[in-house]
Amino acid sequence: MRQEVKHFSDLDALSQAALEILADALNEQGQTAQNHTFALALSGGSTPKTLFKLMGLPQNSSRLELRDLHYFWADERCVGPTEPQSNYKLAIDLFLNKVLPPPGNLHRIPGELPPKEAAHAYRNDLRGFFHHNASQDTVADFNLIFLGLGGDGHTASLFPGSPALDETKAWVDVATAPASSPVPGRVTLTYPVINNAHTVVFLVSGMDKKPVLEEILAGT
Ligand code: 6PG
Repeated sequence: MRQEVKHFSDLDALSQAALEILADALNEQGQTAQNHTFALALSGGSTPKTLFKLMGLPQNSSRLELRDLHYFWADERCVGPTEPQSNYKLAIDLFLNKVLPPPGNLHRIPGELPPKEAAHAYRNDLRGFFHHNASQDTVADFNLIFLGLGGDGHTASLFPGSPALDETKAWVDVATAPASSPVPGRVTLTYPVINNAHTVVFLVSGMDKKPVLEEILAGT
């Protein structure tokens, strides 16, 4: 596994670089006219907003043929798809409502359901897409996952101390954000799925992330 850390002077430069990572992944891992199965998972939070806006620009959307990708979410808050806290809504508002993929290419986590039901429904969607049935001991293989990093070290909705961190088999789990979060109820991809993706990109911005990022990069 190859790991690389890149530094940028500002969020615009970081977001442009993230767009080019997506472009490279599409070139390398292939979308073909016959095979539109590139699976991209998105996160919420504030950092990816600039990237999403870039993805919504017509020149980028047509150059990368973003309409043909399959969109998934690394995590979701337990709210409906039209609520302001919804990670799905964030992506819809910032670029998907311009790119307009076919509805079948939007694999949202149904945050309006009770968390366990939402996790179950998402798991079934993933299994259908990745052609794995429940009895097989295999793991979803995303082409690319964009993740963020919280000041407490969380990524997706894998928060410190959460039982979801210990998951070794299930692809999706329920999780709880700290009580200070506006929406503590979460559904998240697990480590097995994140670690099985072809490419994982952590978009990290803000000085509040520096201490935990240093710890992570030091391996502590
Ligand atoms: C979410 C996330 C979460 C996010 C980090 C970083 O739904 O909140 O997916 O893991 O990526 O909290 O968020 P910021 O980019 O806002 O710092």
